[in-house]
Amino acid sequence: MRAVRIHEYGGPEVLRTEEVPMPEPGPGQVLIAAEAVSVGFAQTQMRRNIFPAPMWRPEFPVTLGGDVIGDVVAVGPGVTGIAAGDRVGAFTLHGAYAEYVAVDADTVLPVPAELDAVQATALPAPGPIAMGTMGTAALAAGESVLVHAASGGIGHLAVQLARLAGAGTVIATAGTPEKCAYARSLGADAAVDYSRADWPDAVREATGGRGVDVILDSVGGDVLRQGIGLLAPFGRLVFYGSAGGGLGIPSVSPMELIGMRFLTGFALSAWRSARPDRYRADHDALTEQLLAGTVRQTVHAVLPLEDVGKAHEIIESRAHLGRIVLLTGRGTRTTGRTA
Ligand SMILES: NC(=O)c1ccc[n+]([C@@H]2O[C@H](COP(=O)([O-])OP(=O)(O)OC[C@H]3O[C@@H](n4cnc5c(N)ncnc54)[C@H](OP(=O)(O)O)[C@@H]3O)[C@@H](O)[C@H]2O)c1
Repeated sequence: MRAVRIHEYGGPEVLRTEEVPMPEPGPGQVLIAAEAVSVGFAQTQMRRNIFPAPMWRPEFPVTLGGDVIGDVVAVGPGVTGIAAGDRVGAFTLHGAYAEYVAVDADTVLPVPAELDAVQATALPAPGPIAMGTMGTAALAAGESVLVHAASGGIGHLAVQLARLAGAGTVIATAGTPEKCAYARSLGADAAVDYSRADWPDAVREATGGRGVDVILDSVGGDVLRQGIGLLAPFGRLVFYGSAGGGLGIPSVSPMELIGMRFLTGFALSAWRSARPDRYRADHDALTEQLLAGTVRQTVHAVLPLEDVGKAHEIIESRAHLGRIVLLTGRGTRTTGRTA
């Protein structure tokens, strides 16, 4: 089968399409014939070896992870409740840029036949991350939310889902005026270009000077530090990525939190193992919303699997709105239509 592997860390050019043996599903695993695979920012950090979380220590050659949508074609020993022919989705840390992907059966979720595979790539990780960060913050109806990097793959879903969750003022940040306009078109009440030095003033102004109740921070670094100062009393900042911070995650003094501010984190892998019921419930709710069209995943580009290097280049140039999705070419239920 075809798989895209890296043999060393580096730029997008290290992503090589190769013929490799088909994986065997091990005990507790299923084998998915992939139709669509989505590409996230975190994989660009993994490829460059600047991914900040300790669970990424691969042995080369390695195939990067992502959201996979496809059909189960084989099940390993001990798997119950999933059978060959089931249409499913899964997020995996390794092995996703390939025609066939072996994943742990307990991470696999159903995907209805009527949902386009490209849209369905929102289901395994991006949507549950957007929902899980809001759940971690215990977002209450009427509270204000600040979504950083709001035009990105997870951010643009978070803006829509915050609105649907009954948030009060939804404030988006993004790196250009065009991205800000796009975030407003998704339902943000205000959008602030955080490449401007005075962005915190604009956010505070959007809350009438009160500060923000919930901040979803995937940027880190100085943006995180400034965010802490923007929290209203009892405000919660959920850190879940460091797109702007690289490995330079700032240390935060407890004194910065003493004014009744809460700083916490979110990782999908930890959430999925600690609260599988909530992960599945969020997946099911988002499936309904995608089917009803109340949430849409914007797809910046749909590319063939072997063009994943181009997908990484687009993401690193920060040119994208929403998600980039790869097609393996074996799917029959993908329209390839974009939002
Ligand atoms: N915690 C978890 O379980 C988990 C899982 C997957 C992903 N993540 C994280 O979630 C975040 C969003 O992931 P995604 O795949 O949806 O990515 P994305 O938002 O589509 O792309 C990253 C965005 O970060 C912004 N950004 C800010 N500073 C940047 C910089 N120095 N270089 C590049 N981009 C920068 C860019 O928006 P602007 O140009 O508008 O600034 C860019 O659009 C990432 O930080 C990712 O690592 C977390």
